[in-house]
Amino acid sequence: MVDLIEKKRDGQALSKEEIHFIIGGYVQGDIPDYQMAAWAMAIFFRGMSLEETAELTSAMAQSGDQLDLSGLGGRFVDKHSTGGVGDKTTLLLGPMVASCGVLVAKMSGRGLGHTGGTIDKLSSVPGFRVELSQAEFLAQVQKIGLSVIAQSGNLVPADKKLYALRDVTATVSSIPLIASSVMSKKIAAGAQGIVLDVKYGSGAFMKTVEEAQRLATIMVNIGKALGRQTIAVLSNMNQPLGRAVGNSLEVLEVADALQGKGPRDLLEVSLELGAWMLVAGGAVANVETGRERLRQSLASGAAWNKFLSFLTEQGGDAQAVIDRRLKVAPSNLPILARETGYVQLFDAHKIGSLAMVLGAGRVTKESPIDLGAGVVLMKKAGEWVEAGEPILQLYGSSNQTLTEGLELAQNLVKVGREAPELPLLIEKVIQ
Ligand code: URA
Repeated sequence: MVDLIEKKRDGQALSKEEIHFIIGGYVQGDIPDYQMAAWAMAIFFRGMSLEETAELTSAMAQSGDQLDLSGLGGRFVDKHSTGGVGDKTTLLLGPMVASCGVLVAKMSGRGLGHTGGTIDKLSSVPGFRVELSQAEFLAQVQKIGLSVIAQSGNLVPADKKLYALRDVTATVSSIPLIASSVMSKKIAAGAQGIVLDVKYGSGAFMKTVEEAQRLATIMVNIGKALGRQTIAVLSNMNQPLGRAVGNSLEVLEVADALQGKGPRDLLEVSLELGAWMLVAGGAVANVETGRERLRQSLASGAAWNKFLSFLTEQGGDAQAVIDRRLKVAPSNLPILARETGYVQLFDAHKIGSLAMVLGAGRVTKESPIDLGAGVVLMKKAGEWVEAGEPILQLYGSSNQTLTEGLELAQNLVKVGREAPELPLLIEKVIQ
């Protein structure tokens, strides 16, 4: 291992055998954390070629269990978002895409940071089971074309160990390490087609379009090298997606969107990602037809009905979603506009921090999360507001979180005479 750290430190490429030796040895416990940390730092500074990154992805994917979904009898696709504030697209896309005949068998994470992940959001539906056995998971996909469960079992143990190490050694933000971490989980989960939503902006991991493009290009090329059709959509995360930020609040927004009453930006991003999922799933020949099919599935109620049967199949109380009886933090507080004019852009990172202060996110894996907490943007950038009208609504479970949130929120709201220039939502698609 010392020789291999030295080799990477000096900028040389590692062979397939060397990479498999390192990952295998680390998972077995033969290579200690301190050597792995030095190796990760060498990669941080020296980078990795595409061949090395694809090999690293493959070694990580093979480090534990791998799902074989080929018996499902259809082509299925997976989707991954690099994460953003108010990003509830998986919940919307699953039923939209499944109702167009492409199977969605998805493993998702709980969230660290500003707000929960998809699994936290689904946990806000009473009774919903985020953990199914593999047999139950596959049976459900076969029956209704859709299941979303928490990552479980021994899937990519190399990533679990390496990510925890990167987190405390300032090596998270290395493009080959991020790309192999994300793609190894998709490959091990059996994806045939992969659609990546790579976000850039203040509320995203990648702050600039250029960084996002570099990451997206590498992930698409890894997918190609490993025989999985991979498409990346670069989307803007300078302001939150949709109006709701927080777990239960976001599920309620998804229910609205599936019934044709969703915010425009959420719909636009979901149609783009969903259309590419239909392309990758072989259901349509091009993205335009894909968008049209998805619009029809929304208009006919097919996507909404699929969502309800998905909740019911996994033990969730779909009626509670229909009746909007999800647990939302009882104390709520409106932030009113001080003047009349156009609402200016809300910074996604700051709205995320506000949601976090209110209790909607977790700082460490063990932190508790308040599924009912969050923020709703009553007005989004570019909308007109009269002085005294609510712009933000805060939901928190204690006076302390609400008081802290109030202080943050008051500095966030800006109203101006000029309508702000709204950012382009979809920058480009890489395939
Ligand atoms: N998300 C992941 O899954 N892995 C990373 O390394 C970064 C973000």
